Amino acid sequence: MQIYIIGFMGSGKSTFGKALAEEIGYGFVDLDKEIEKREKSTIQKIFTEKGEDAFRKAEHEALLASVNEENIVVATGGGAPCFQDNMKWMNDRGLTIYLKLFEGELKRRIEPEMEHRPLLKDLDSEGLERFVYNTLRERAVYYHQAKVVINPLIITPENMAAILRENYM
Ligand code: S3P
Repeated sequence: MQIYIIGFMGSGKSTFGKALAEEIGYGFVDLDKEIEKREKSTIQKIFTEKGEDAFRKAEHEALLASVNEENIVVATGGGAPCFQDNMKWMNDRGLTIYLKLFEGELKRRIEPEMEHRPLLKDLDSEGLERFVYNTLRERAVYYHQAKVVINPLIITPENMAAILRENYM
């Protein structure tokens, strides 16, 4: 089975996905790292040198490449479900899990590392608040297409592994 972890920047997709993969004995792929490997560049450089459209294309291609892996947990980038037909593709292919957090918690987590994130590096604290609020509203329609929606402050990877074993494996 393929498991796709989705959610906004700062929701902890990579940490959660990796721990979940370990719990259930699956492989783990971080889609952002995969893109960097495939493009031989960094996410920041792809954004600044080639632009967001090129990044979204590379992201889509990296996602399609994950199809070859059996029994894998894929942590996607925050925008991945919202471009091309990525969300439908993931839902057709496997189990999508949305790590849902509210704006305030996301902002608190993202703020200390803003300069490393291409979409946020030019924003001040108020700009970040507006960005999180507006972008989450736009993206929620995609995120809520996930088959499973959890609050990662309540459901741990261990809890999720138990739920998977009982219901999906
Ligand atoms: C993005 C989220 C990032 C990365 C890129 C764009 C987004 O991934 O893919 O900077 O559009 O939300 P994380 O959610 O893993 O930080």
